[in-house]
Amino acid sequence: MPMFSEYIIHEVTEKNDIHDVVSKYVHLKKAGNSYVGLCPFHNEKTPSFSVSPQRGVFHCFGCGVGGDVISFLMKIENIPFYEAVKKLADMSGITLPQVTEYDKGNSEKIKKQKEKLFELNREAALFFYENLKDSQKSIEYLKKRQLTGALAKTFWLGFAPDSWNSLFDFLKGKGYTESDIFNAGLIKRHESGRYYDMFRNRLMFPIFDAGGNIIAFGGRVFDDSKPKYLNSPESAIFSKSKNLYGINIAKNSKKDFVLLTEGYMDTIALMKNGFLNTVATLGTALTGVQAKYLANNFKEIVICYDGDKAGHLARLRAISMLREHDVKITVIDLGSSKDPDEFINTNGVERFKVALSNRKQDMEYLMDYYSEEYDLKNPQDIVSYVSEVIEYLKLIRSSVEQNVYVNMLSQRTKVSEKAIYAQLGVTQAKQGTGSDLKVSDPMVIALRKRNKTNKTVLDNAREHLLSLIIFDKIVYNKHKDSITDKIFELDFHISLLNSIRQSYEESGHVVASRLTSHFADNETDLALLSRILSLDDFGDNTEKAYEDYMKIISSEIKKNEIKALMNSGDDLDKLNEMLKNKR
Ligand code: GTP
Ligand code: MN
Repeated sequence: MPMFSEYIIHEVTEKNDIHDVVSKYVHLKKAGNSYVGLCPFHNEKTPSFSVSPQRGVFHCFGCGVGGDVISFLMKIENIPFYEAVKKLADMSGITLPQVTEYDKGNSEKIKKQKEKLFELNREAALFFYENLKDSQKSIEYLKKRQLTGALAKTFWLGFAPDSWNSLFDFLKGKGYTESDIFNAGLIKRHESGRYYDMFRNRLMFPIFDAGGNIIAFGGRVFDDSKPKYLNSPESAIFSKSKNLYGINIAKNSKKDFVLLTEGYMDTIALMKNGFLNTVATLGTALTGVQAKYLANNFKEIVICYDGDKAGHLARLRAISMLREHDVKITVIDLGSSKDPDEFINTNGVERFKVALSNRKQDMEYLMDYYSEEYDLKNPQDIVSYVSEVIEYLKLIRSSVEQNVYVNMLSQRTKVSEKAIYAQLGVTQAKQGTGSDLKVSDPMVIALRKRNKTNKTVLDNAREHLLSLIIFDKIVYNKHKDSITDKIFELDFHISLLNSIRQSYEESGHVVASRLTSHFADNETDLALLSRILSLDDFGDNTEKAYEDYMKIISSEIKKNEIKALMNSGDDLDKLNEMLKNKR
């Protein structure tokens, strides 16, 4: 994407009417302000595919795909971004800057280079594997670590011989050049100018990417010498902060949850016992990129780290990285075991399964962990304990979930929820939208949970409201102070609202293609966005439409609140008061 300036992208989307482009592939019929047709991305008999030239977007209400003219072309032609932009530029007579041609050629060159590196690593892995079979030392070591030959094969484990040039010679013999082998990180260069094998006398663990390419190696010594593990250097295909060991297998495990470990051996130990849904970081703490990848691919991340203090610190870090995403985070307690590999080998997999089923929610884990560090009978310790835990409660983005744990902390310490909230710095609902609803109210938790599952009048009104303020500058500017996070509930709605605000602040208007490119790397968000962008049934009086949506939103929220109060039945005074207000 950064290959083109924002200006070029804007030009290309402006000059290419989405209706004209889509018409080349789909038969479109006019329907109000937009056009409809049969969706080219899924099989259908009645049209649910809609194109809005005014907004420059398409959306299928059947299968959910959507986006702008660039993403349409990418999808329908199955071409990369730069090619779609180039095509559109050609069609509309825009001359792309020279640099683009260069970058395009360059990106093809880079692709070829990467393929060469994959190939080299694969050759090297096969070489190490062949050597393993003849290495008595390796076989004995594997046995000691309870690994069979079949497992070695599954994980492509290998042996790097105790030699300065055996791999180098082998690869040269296959016709690879010095510089390619060097770029793959398989050889190092001595001051004298001579090259020598990077990995010598080590047990080799090939690291695969999600697509099954070998992108690097980890090599372990057989004794206690240092460094224990040696990793391939960072390269065009390998970054230890972006990749995860085991992801090629875990990704296909079809499990809702993934076990996150610290080491190669931990991942292998779990996988060999049937937990194919296991990954390991590569000697570093969990990074944002890794957290995002896991959150996008699994519903729950089970942190399965070493039992020591370092393991605890790594857990804290992982929890805070993962909390940035909408994913369930749990922690498994392996007692005093050093790591999962050791736990399984000493206690057996059945005990591991018990530990797994006893896993705790991240926040509960933290409360338990710190309760052992403080004496909760001592008032001063309670103060410290609460302050410590509150730092983690701040990581919770959903106010509903936050309330659950505030409540738990309050029960454990007998400190009031109110005091905990005060320290959390949560300002409770100020008036503004006409609803004096407290997000922290337990009744609201129940109703908001319910609302999440099926689409309601409420969500419909919210989506229309968002669409309206994207396209109607006047309505937005007049009411921007009333349109707050509080009237929304979905994370996506809130982040869209923030993007809209930012866009107005920066340039005074919102460009749909800017929004779509902002959410482009998340398919789910993009689908939600294109749906919102395609809503245009506000009628001519947009001010009136605004008032209607707001009315629906606040009355629906109130209605739900009353419903929840009735169901719970234990706060009659409050219920009566609300019913009074409603009349
Ligand atoms: P075993 O001792 O073989 O069971 O390995 P382990 O996975 O239990 O090792 P440990 O807990 O010490 O380390 C966890 C992970 O950190 C390893 O799998 C490596 O990815 C990484 N690591 C450990 N030691 C080193 C090292 O010396 N250098 C580098 N680069 N990484 C290391
Ligand atoms: Mn270990």
